[in-house]
Amino acid sequence: MKKGLLIALITTIGLYTYAQKNTSFTPGKPWKDNNGVHINAHGGNVIFFKNKYYWYGEHKIAGKSEAQMADGGIHCYSSTDLLNWKDEGIVLSVSYTDSTADLAYGCILERPKIIYDKNQKKFIAYFKYYPRGTGYLKGYIGMATSNSATGPFIYKNKFLGASSDFGSGDFSMYENVDNNVYHLTVRKPDKTFVIGKLSKNRMQPEGKYEPVKGIEKHTEAPAVIFHNKKYFLLGSGSSGWKPNKARLFMADSLMGEFTDLGNPCVGRNPHNGIGADTTFGGQSAYILKVSGKKDAYIAMFDIWKPDTPIEGLYIWLPIVFEKGIPKIYWKDSWNLNFFNKKQ
Ligand code: GAL
Repeated sequence: MKKGLLIALITTIGLYTYAQKNTSFTPGKPWKDNNGVHINAHGGNVIFFKNKYYWYGEHKIAGKSEAQMADGGIHCYSSTDLLNWKDEGIVLSVSYTDSTADLAYGCILERPKIIYDKNQKKFIAYFKYYPRGTGYLKGYIGMATSNSATGPFIYKNKFLGASSDFGSGDFSMYENVDNNVYHLTVRKPDKTFVIGKLSKNRMQPEGKYEPVKGIEKHTEAPAVIFHNKKYFLLGSGSSGWKPNKARLFMADSLMGEFTDLGNPCVGRNPHNGIGADTTFGGQSAYILKVSGKKDAYIAMFDIWKPDTPIEGLYIWLPIVFEKGIPKIYWKDSWNLNFFNKKQ
């Protein structure tokens, strides 16, 4: 009897877990992790390491609005199929006990971007960092490293990038074919888009930053890919948590000169009624390359909810190349088979 009950229980749990499996991306709808909890990894990126994807993003604290300081650190999830994510926990936390620490609760910690450094065999996390109580005035890049994809990350350093005493805002850390990592970012306070190379150990800028030719001023939320010998930079305008029009640029070199390709988004998000003119209600975060599939890229956007940031939503959409130019069409539901079709 007891054994029968146990088998029934295991079967029920098994079926329940199976039923919970995601089989498609549903942009703009809540996205549950393996525990049935909405994923809490905003403004982040995804890396592929040893047959697994790792999604890192801003951990937003429950019950706090952005104005009440909702940043709790970096949250990590892992997946083998990009649809179903296992919660790996907070891999870098703000400190709730030491108010003098750089990462004291109340600091702003945004848009984490993690890279794997093959040379040092280390995972490096970069993030927008503003010390507690200082608002968005002076923007540092904070850095933390880990020996494992799932952390813990140890806070190491902060620097003011962009060759400016006010540092920088939204950014991309891009590892180029030359193995150097470039910091592409919007300079503070004048919002010129600039580029600078990081040192070999990737811990600080190596030299002076230069403006990137052809990238409009006030470009935020940059995401870079290199495809068919062209660099593409997807970004947004500058309007805080409110959505604006996406922008796309193309160049032969990371330094530019970039050509303005306008807004790559097409369609409408039926869940909020917002169209491509304001990026379906979202803002770009990253473009991830799907492993093992040719020309398969996913554009990741956030729908910010500044009053209840933990409820922020995600828009993941496939990139389509039309005559070599990326387009991002709204889709209510899709999966990776999309990339098997001839474009
Ligand atoms: C956005 C930026 C976000 C956050 C927000 C604050 O433009 O992309 O990361 O900093 O402003 O208002």
